[in-house]
Amino acid sequence: MFSLDNRLALCADFVRENSNLADVGTDHAYLPVWLAINHKINSAVACDIRKMPLKNAQSNIDLYGVGDIVSTVLSDGLDEIPPECADDIVIAGMGGELISEIISRTLWLRDENKRLILQPMTRADSLRLFLCRNGFRIIDEKPCISLGKSYSVILAVYDGVIRPCDDIFRYTGLLQFDNSIESKKYISVINGKLKKKLNAFEKNSDEFKHLLELTEKLDSLSKENSQ
Ligand SMILES: C[S@@+](CC[C@H](N)C(=O)[O-])C[C@H]1O[C@@H](n2cnc3c(N)ncnc32)[C@H](O)[C@@H]1O
Repeated sequence: MFSLDNRLALCADFVRENSNLADVGTDHAYLPVWLAINHKINSAVACDIRKMPLKNAQSNIDLYGVGDIVSTVLSDGLDEIPPECADDIVIAGMGGELISEIISRTLWLRDENKRLILQPMTRADSLRLFLCRNGFRIIDEKPCISLGKSYSVILAVYDGVIRPCDDIFRYTGLLQFDNSIESKKYISVINGKLKKKLNAFEKNSDEFKHLLELTEKLDSLSKENSQ
């Protein structure tokens, strides 16, 4: 038996009991295998664009004897996955732009019964913007720290409503309303990256003033009520 790290454990928490799961970019298939061993899912397709990760995934599926629940599929995003195979879709460990691209071209995700569990490694801001502009509602978002690094896991569902996405929402999502130490740390890391960009602008330019204002707001969000 093995345990998931905090990042994958948080993704697992968002998966509904007895759902049919698609794990996109599965690599070693730890997530679907762990969910199957723990009797949390009905079925899972562990997909990856490359053959080597799928070989590792198949070895783990065999090792833990969950081949009746988890199968592997070679697929770019969800291109080879029929909609009926997946109620809950996890896309974890990829950049926010790639995640957006995969969602964008999978038209069957525009269905209120499908749940997207998304864990961007980079450019979470671009993913949140994509979701707001394309009718996906972020219904939950939680932070975690794994091996000293901050992550956010986003739960989104399609409802067709195009939403505004101001800068604070782009960079912090629902974590701005969460008072946990993990959220504060996430916001502070994101803010540190934005502050580095300040040097690229002339001090009295509009871009500089706009970015400075944003970093000041994020400063107060990362400190507000912090324990
Ligand atoms: C860093 S691993 C993440 C593994 C696991 N999901 C996690 O979060 O720990 C990224 C995996 O995504 C796969 N990948 C990259 N682009 C993909 C795509 N367009 N479709 C499916 N898989 C992809 C890679 O081959 C790799 O195995």
